[in-house]
Amino acid sequence: MKISDATTAVIIGGGGGIGRGTALGLATRGARLVIADIDPGTAAAVADELVADGAEAIAVQVDATSVDSLSAAADAAEARFGSVDILSNNVGVVHSRELLDATEEEWGWVIEFNLMSIIRSCAVFAPRIRAHGRGGHIVNTASMAALWASRPEEVAGVNLGLYTTTKHAVLGYSETLRGELAAEGIGVSCLCPGTVDSNLMRTSLAHRPDRFGGRVEAPPTQGSMPHAMAQEDVGRFVVAGIEDDRTVILTHPRGRRFVEQRAERLAADFDYFEALEQTP
Ligand SMILES: NC(=O)c1ccc[n+]([C@@H]2O[C@H](COP(=O)([O-])OP(=O)(O)OC[C@H]3O[C@@H](n4cnc5c(N)ncnc54)[C@H](O)[C@@H]3O)[C@@H](O)[C@H]2O)c1
Repeated sequence: MKISDATTAVIIGGGGGIGRGTALGLATRGARLVIADIDPGTAAAVADELVADGAEAIAVQVDATSVDSLSAAADAAEARFGSVDILSNNVGVVHSRELLDATEEEWGWVIEFNLMSIIRSCAVFAPRIRAHGRGGHIVNTASMAALWASRPEEVAGVNLGLYTTTKHAVLGYSETLRGELAAEGIGVSCLCPGTVDSNLMRTSLAHRPDRFGGRVEAPPTQGSMPHAMAQEDVGRFVVAGIEDDRTVILTHPRGRRFVEQRAERLAADFDYFEALEQTP
């Protein structure tokens, strides 16, 4: 789709990180922005930044673990701008744990934030995008961890198993939804970034509901990864991915070798079982 000053985009988890970068990118095309986040202070700061740069933007508090809260955010977006054309889902958490050590509570938390927040948000917003009949686009933020399963020694010692499991599910969900909505002119892309400067380690724990262990104050992490991509550099990849309707949006195409190595391993398994099938 073409992004213009007639386009309204809702950014869930827009109060920082990749959501902020996405908002800045969409603003360069003149889009009107609804910055929705559980933290009203960071949402307002990003909306103020956009308005100061000449964009039209509002901040809305939303809790992506609640259908009612997401519906209220959609109502607020429609009340201000008429309708929603682009939905960007950025809520997620990172949690380092070996798979067999993870408790049901930890699994529930990571599944809720990384997967269900996206499923729920799409369920609320996609019917509204459908209803106006002009098409639109949905960007679900997964990660490069949707495309390959890392070992800790490859990713600074972090056990990304819970993250990888849920991010793979986001890719499967997004690609399937893409097929289901294509005939209506609604594109769906799965954003698979590499490392981007953000406060993800802090926000993961700061907004953890009591049923998953409760909130923990952690130090800010933004600025602690000198080799991470700046948030400001993310948006142009997202804009290109929406305008050219890509299945997957990549911010770090150099990560390709990990995905190619996986594809080679899968191809070897196909070769193996094809040979077995032909063995009498
Ligand atoms: N930073 C990276 O290197 C990186 C890489 C790949 C993928 N990602 C993914 O990008 C997404 C955004 O992460 P980020 O790194 O920009 O971190 P971030 O902490 O800056 O962004 C997450 C935002 O979600 C908000 N949030 C948390 N709980 C919420 C809830 N219940 N309802 C509404 N908003 C809520 C937070 O306040 C925060 O603003 C996540 O899904 C993450 O897994 C991040």
